[in-house]
Amino acid sequence: MGDKMNNQQEWEAVYSSDTSRHKNKYPSELLVSWVMRNFGSTPYENRNILKCLDIGCGYGNNLKFLTDEGFNAVGIDFSPSVVSAVNDSGLKAIHSSAINTPFNDQEFDFILDRSAIQCNSKEDIVKIYNEILRLLKPGGRFFSVFKKTGDNGFETSLHTDQEIHKLLVPFSDYSIDYYSLTMNNQESELSAFLISAIK
Ligand SMILES: C[S@@+](CC[C@H](N)C(=O)[O-])C[C@H]1O[C@@H](n2cnc3c(N)ncnc32)[C@H](O)[C@@H]1O
Repeated sequence: MGDKMNNQQEWEAVYSSDTSRHKNKYPSELLVSWVMRNFGSTPYENRNILKCLDIGCGYGNNLKFLTDEGFNAVGIDFSPSVVSAVNDSGLKAIHSSAINTPFNDQEFDFILDRSAIQCNSKEDIVKIYNEILRLLKPGGRFFSVFKKTGDNGFETSLHTDQEIHKLLVPFSDYSIDYYSLTMNNQESELSAFLISAIK
């Protein structure tokens, strides 16, 4: 049985239960590395003018890193339980779907997605990319860790470079890289697209 985690009800069920699974405490090293490569040279005291959105922020692990590093960060998630947990921890999150957010056009300097967009259908992913383009300032940046396969049978709706390229055509520049590792003594493999784009 796979662990697809492809809809709002499934995520809400996880976050409102007392399991520790998916309640990530530490930031993704891939996300940390991308943020520091792209924005690390901005002095700490000037980072607050950089507005950043974490799509599908989950338990706020990446939001905490961004906030500690001085960025003006807000998260969205479609699970109400996780959004109240994030707000209770003193971080900023809003209950919203990534398809239709309450933010203004061109509000963000950068937008991050660590393994949230991958949970959506093809049709919804197109809508989420349109929303990202609406929300980014001209020259704004986007980073996404988009898992293709996972150790727990995760399945996504996009599998090929071509499908990802199609989503990225409206951006002025982009790169698609791969990240992969084996797990459980090479019994399973986790692989992901690392997508980096500039509006
Ligand atoms: C695999 S978890 C990742 C959580 C966090 N980004 C991290 O790195 O630990 C995916 C998260 O995305 C959220 N999510 C998935 N699709 C979403 C959508 N269309 N709108 C808002 N949140 C979404 C889920 O509720 C879940 O919290």
